[in-house]
Amino acid sequence: MKRIGILTSGGDCQALNAAMRGVVKSLVFSGEQIEIYGFLNGYQGLIYGNYRMLDVSDFSGILTRGGTILGSSRTPFKTIREPDEKGTDKVEAMKHSYYKLNLDCLLILGGNGTHKTANLLREEGLNVVTLPKTIDNDLWGTDMTFGFQSAVDIATNVIDNIHTTADSHSRVFIVEVMGHKVGYLTLNAGIASGADIILIPEIPYDMKKIIKAIEERKKRGSKFTIIAVAEGAISKENAKLSKKEYKKMLEKSPYSTVSYAIAAEIQKVTGQEVRVTIPGHMQRGGSPCPYDRIFASRLGAEAGKLILKGEYGFMVGYRNREIVKVPLDQVAGKLKKLDPDASIIKEAKMLGISFGD
Ligand code: F6P
Repeated sequence: MKRIGILTSGGDCQALNAAMRGVVKSLVFSGEQIEIYGFLNGYQGLIYGNYRMLDVSDFSGILTRGGTILGSSRTPFKTIREPDEKGTDKVEAMKHSYYKLNLDCLLILGGNGTHKTANLLREEGLNVVTLPKTIDNDLWGTDMTFGFQSAVDIATNVIDNIHTTADSHSRVFIVEVMGHKVGYLTLNAGIASGADIILIPEIPYDMKKIIKAIEERKKRGSKFTIIAVAEGAISKENAKLSKKEYKKMLEKSPYSTVSYAIAAEIQKVTGQEVRVTIPGHMQRGGSPCPYDRIFASRLGAEAGKLILKGEYGFMVGYRNREIVKVPLDQVAGKLKKLDPDASIIKEAKMLGISFGD
């Protein structure tokens, strides 16, 4: 008999349900008896003992359903050691919930912040197995996270649709893609949709180079230009600022996002009409794409195997086309960024895509 607590934490994404279903199915088909406790709304459920006992049937019919049947929330790791407003010690409260239910382990699905807390719980002596979710694909220790490919599909679709209207109106269009710290999503959706310029946090841009790329397109007879901009894209000048200085600068900026600042500059210098489209949380919504359904199911099955064997303290990830187990202390606190010298970026440049650098 295995008593398993499950929670999904951080920003949601597609295939969370598919992954949980994968774990539960693999345990059921192993013949092991299981009891499942679903903590609601991420670590909040574990802290405040808010859970639901789940039946195997709760995991039926959810392979294609987006979101998470358990709900999610952000519980910042930065303040996890600080008591809440009522003085509750959050870490002790989580341990209390775990021991009170006599759990064998916790299955935690999440991204970067989630993994820091998961590793802390491991250090505190709890048995933890995790699964890598995020549309950002920025989790260390895995080449891929589930949610990413579904978000690439959505962002690609948005940019595809923008092409026709940009063409009709001879406009410059900026599509702002999610990703404050990394540019995987913007880069992949940008290449897939034939964007002309791609701006990502890992490659600070030079406004003059962006203008030059637009002007050169015009000279070649192209009426419009599509720019895929990551939320966290940053200019070369701003990249030199300290975190604090940059934050101050953003607070003073008249523009709500980086895309509007870039749009205003392009319009001023080129005189060409510019529009900004922000698909936002749409990129995290809806049904997982087939790739994510398969990927999350495979990760889930392998997580089930670890739980059966009592191998705890690992994230189930994907490296060099193999499903692998990665020690949690190697994952926590590290961000997987795009290497500006990666071959995918070189190839994109060979295709004529400008990175504004
Ligand atoms: O971490 C996933 C993500 O979707 C990022 O791409 C985005 O910047 C952020 O979450 C948005 O967070 P929230 O849903 O809290 O607004």
